[in-house]
Amino acid sequence: MKTLILVSHPNIERSIANKTIIKQAEERIETIEIRHLEKLYPDFKIDVEAEQKALAAADIIILQHPFYWYSVPAMLKQWFDTVWTWGFAYGQGGDKLKDKHLIQSITVGGPKEAYTPLGYNHFEIEEFLRPVQQSVYLAQLKYHKPIYSFRNFYAENIWNSVTEVQHNAKKHATRLISVIENISKSNTEKVEKFIYEWFKHFDILDENGYFTQYLDTNVLMKFPEKGEFNGHDGFHKWYNETKADFIGNTTHDINGLNIKEVEKDTFQITMNIQLGATTIAEEKLKLDARESWMLVWDTTSDRPIIKEYFVNTK
Ligand SMILES: Cc1cc2nc3c(=O)[nH]c(=O)nc-3n(C[C@H](O)[C@H](O)[C@H](O)COP(=O)(O)O)c2cc1C
Repeated sequence: MKTLILVSHPNIERSIANKTIIKQAEERIETIEIRHLEKLYPDFKIDVEAEQKALAAADIIILQHPFYWYSVPAMLKQWFDTVWTWGFAYGQGGDKLKDKHLIQSITVGGPKEAYTPLGYNHFEIEEFLRPVQQSVYLAQLKYHKPIYSFRNFYAENIWNSVTEVQHNAKKHATRLISVIENISKSNTEKVEKFIYEWFKHFDILDENGYFTQYLDTNVLMKFPEKGEFNGHDGFHKWYNETKADFIGNTTHDINGLNIKEVEKDTFQITMNIQLGATTIAEEKLKLDARESWMLVWDTTSDRPIIKEYFVNTK
């Protein structure tokens, strides 16, 4: 999954907190693009097409900024106003951000106790963030709880020490990175869970319909000895033949499972399977196979669809 960090900070050279967070993210997140808006557009003239392209290519969008006057820095507001257009983020055809993940990551200057009903800022941080939250809902992205940390304002000898702010910022970065990792991981985990379920259904020699719901109508399947099979009809043919050979309660032991997301929602999977079965002639069988699948996670129905299913003997 690709992470886009949009940084908005008018004075990054003097920043401690945001600079620390960005550095940590850059070092620890694998596929990442960082766009610093004030650096890209010092005259405030945003290249809308370039920004929309960057958004379209991202799966996870992070808005990284200091809390300014209980809101986002002016540049980030300008970015919303010019980039989240009708037909792109909302309105007719405006679904280009749909299902992407968005996390607002904010360094707050003041202390936590100030952001309480009796504190001098009166309201909790998240109450100030509603406009971004609702914009995210309108544009149909997946909204995540914002990540923020307090006491990031640094004023020499008055308020805070540099080390304290840096320490704070590192903790903030760790939380942010862990959310990003969890989002990236969750797809792979869903696929892994599915693979184990798939084989459990083979073990009880389940009915064909269970399997075909996860097979592309044009799926290509290859099996040792039996050859190639195409589409749902091909599956029925292969499965009916195979089922007829066995008494139920087979076992499929999976090891060496490797799931790689080769492009968004498309997975290349390899694994070793040891099949344990009893044939109708009551012979005990143990077969070692190497399987290689191509699977797409259909986001609309939120389920896996197998496109290629190749089995080789080892
Ligand atoms: C123009 C401006 C407005 C600010 N407004 C707020 C604010 O509303 N609430 C707050 O807690 N801190 C506020 N701060 C403090 C910043 O949030 C804090 O200095 C910043 O998060 C530290 O990050 P940095 O080291 O990356 O600059 C403001 C600072 C500036 C310069």
